[in-house]
Parts: sequence; C-alpha cells; structure tokens
Amino acid sequence: MKISMIVAYGKNWEIGLDNQMLWHISEDFKNFKTITSGHHILMGRKTFESIGKPLPNRTSLVLTRGDFTHEGVHTFNDVQEAFNKAREAGEEELFIIGGANIYETLFDYVDKMYLSEVDYEGKADAYLKEIDFSTWDLSEEKSYDVILDEQGEVKSPAWKFKTWVKKD
Ligand SMILES: NC(=O)c1ccc[n+]([C@@H]2O[C@H](COP(=O)([O-])OP(=O)(O)OC[C@H]3O[C@@H](n4cnc5c(N)ncnc54)[C@H](OP(=O)(O)O)[C@@H]3O)[C@@H](O)[C@H]2O)c1
Repeated sequence: MKISMIVAYGKNWEIGLDNQMLWHISEDFKNFKTITSGHHILMGRKTFESIGKPLPNRTSLVLTRGDFTHEGVHTFNDVQEAFNKAREAGEEELFIIGGANIYETLFDYVDKMYLSEVDYEGKADAYLKEIDFSTWDLSEEKSYDVILDEQGEVKSPAWKFKTWVKKD
C-alpha cells in the first residue's frame, strides 16, 4: 500500500489557525476531493473536528490518544492499526490529510506528496515542518492564478499544485 500525504501550505509553511484553514480556494478543494475520493484518509482528531463530519466517498481513519469516537469514522490509538485497517480493506493508496502533528509524525512513511503551494502569508498557529526536496522527484506541476473580487481584493490566492515522489 502506497502512503501519500496531501496538504496546502503558505509561504512560511503555515497550514492553519484556530483549527481552521487559512484560505478558501475552491479549485484546491475540488482537487482534494478528486484525488482522495474512493480512498482511506487518515487524520488527527483535531483535523477531524475541524472538518466536523466524515467526508463522503472516503473511509475516514482518525488518530487519537484518548477515547474519541464519532459516527461514521474509525478511530485508532495506534498508527500501525490505522494502516492495517486500510491494508486489510485492500487500499492501494492511503492519504494522510493532516494536521500539523500528524504530517510531522508520519512524514517518514510518506511515498508521495500532493502539495498545494499557496501564495499566502499570514497569522497561523499550525505549520508544516520545512520539507527538504532533495530526496524527492517532482512528477507533476500546475499553476493557478489569483482570483480577485469586484473590489479588487484577493478572493482566492494564486497557488501551485505539485506532486513529488520519494527517490529510491
Ligand atoms: N492546510 C492544510 O492542508 C491542512 C490540512 C489538515 C489540517 N490543517 C490544519 O491543521 C491544524 C490541526 O493540526 P494539529 O497539529 O493541531 O492537529 P492534528 O494533527 O489534526 O491532530 C492532533 C491530534 O491527533 C492525535 N494524535 C497525534 N499523534 C498521535 C499518535 N501518534 N497516536 C494517536 N493519536 C495521535 C491526538 O489526538 P487527541 O488529542 O484526541 O489524543 C492529537 O491531539 C488545523 O489548523 C487545521 O485547519 C491544515
């Protein structure tokens, strides 16, 4: 089973504030949905609470050290048990979908990264640990323009979508 991570981050590696996302980029959400649909998605309890419900057409695996439970999701105290659940279901690509704590803890398991680099700088309290790309091969890259509202304010920042595969 391949283990992938998918994350959107700003210029200073910021990914969240007050358990919320920092921007609204509808094309990025659509992309996330397309990429993860039909797969097992693994997240920390805080990210699950920020989403608030199981995402449709995906099997949600939630990590907690406590006794958190929620209808429609599988909860695990142990990472390997969560991986096994996906493996036993025949999953071919498991997606780690955050947050900061989970990305950092599970980074060494990741085979493929789906990264959205967002042209955004601002206050945050959750960050991605800086990635050293020298051990990764870029396999795909696409750029998206900023979208402005009627007042000329940024409605949706510019972003680049890149996929990276771990070097052998
Ligand atoms: N930009 C993006 O792409 C993106 C994606 C996802 C999330 N986010 C942002 O990230 C932030 C949340 O990140 P976070 O670091 O605060 O929280 P998190 O990683 O979502 O969840 C942390 C929680 O996961 C559980 N946990 C962590 N390691 C564990 C382990 N080894 N075994 C079992 N359970 C474990 C613990 O839950 P218990 O406390 O229940 O024990 C811990 O408190 C939010 O701001 C969110 O919006 C951004």
